[in-house]
Amino acid sequence: QPVQMTQSKVAPKGGLEGVAVANSAIGKIDGTVGELRYCGYLITDLADHSDFTETVYLLWHGVLPTKGQYDQLKAELCAKREIPALVVDLLRRIADKQAPMDALRTAASLLSIEDGGGDDADREANLLRAVRLTAQFPTIVAAYDRLRDGQEPIAPRDDLGHAANFLYMLTGEEPNGEIAKMLDVCLVLHAEHGFNASTFAGRVTAATLSDMYSAVCSAIGTLKGPLHGGANTAVMQTLQSIGSADGVEAYLDEALARKEKVMGFGHRVYKVVDPRAIILRKFSQRTAEITGDARWFEMSTKLEGLMKERKGIDMNVDFYSASTYYSMGIKPDLFTPIFAISRVSGWIAHILEQLANNRLIRPRSNWVGQDSLDYVFIDQR
Ligand code: COA
Repeated sequence: QPVQMTQSKVAPKGGLEGVAVANSAIGKIDGTVGELRYCGYLITDLADHSDFTETVYLLWHGVLPTKGQYDQLKAELCAKREIPALVVDLLRRIADKQAPMDALRTAASLLSIEDGGGDDADREANLLRAVRLTAQFPTIVAAYDRLRDGQEPIAPRDDLGHAANFLYMLTGEEPNGEIAKMLDVCLVLHAEHGFNASTFAGRVTAATLSDMYSAVCSAIGTLKGPLHGGANTAVMQTLQSIGSADGVEAYLDEALARKEKVMGFGHRVYKVVDPRAIILRKFSQRTAEITGDARWFEMSTKLEGLMKERKGIDMNVDFYSASTYYSMGIKPDLFTPIFAISRVSGWIAHILEQLANNRLIRPRSNWVGQDSLDYVFIDQR
């Protein structure tokens, strides 16, 4: 049963900090020791041994799949990669008018048009929707990126993994195996993170017994903000505006003097460094070695060190994902859509969990407005 919220006043800082709004068995974060587990499994073990498809199964079913279950989900995800012609038409029409994250939100909504489950909202029908949404997000993002560059979308291939196929659909070239593997691990790392803002938004929508597409669209809109998933794009913009490692210290001093938030640092839950960020730091270094251009990695390590020294604040998952994706040849405004390509799996897990034991999510606020005003007619104001 959901934990009862107290009638006491909200914490002075607000933001539901420290408030438990439901029971959940999907993602567990211990922010004091920097530990993240999906359904009991350490994120570091999943990064080392699992892949995105297996992680999706784990999140949706709560257990690791058998070989047969893994193969079946993989085949289902591959079979559903193609997006409806209507969605391609829509992307073509909006190609130079929306940022990729907005285009993903718009297109995700339209995916409901070919919904195989109709109005049926039971778990089986929702799992069919889950496969289609998860399979088609990469196709939408890649198609949109090409269309806005005046190029035709590239059809998905069913012989490539989730990450490799995405990179292939972006460029038309089969990606380097090591890069594709690193991107796949990035998808594992971003798939789930407890009651983060976008997941919460999705659960709130699902809890009204609205449909899965609406819940996912709520979540996409929430992920977009720079305090949440939009931070990875913002990190890259910061690095590009600084330009070189020599400029990092002056940038940081000025940003802190202006009391600006430095993108890619800080976290509501982690009090020590986020375990995902440590893996991503290695990927940033490795992709720099592969490209032979260490500029972004060097700037990032300098900024990380100075931020810790000046403010005692650690990097978060978005910090090194920026330089990693950029070194993979991906444009900065695709970074947050890539986050969504992964996190849609976690949103769906939470939507399913919410629906399995649903109660409307409807908190209260402390009233701080005026009471008992007499109505004043417009000509007397
Ligand atoms: N840069 C500079 N100062 C930061 C900071 C950052 N990125 N993150 C937190 N702080 C400081 C705040 O200024 C505040 O200091 P104060 O107490 O002296 O006012 C203190 O740390 C607490 O920050 P607060 O904003 O209250 O924490 P929060 O839990 O509400 O915010 C984030 C968490 C993630 C929204 C916040 O750290 C942030 O905005 N980070 C940058 C955006 C980002 O990377 N988001 C992705 C998160 S995965």
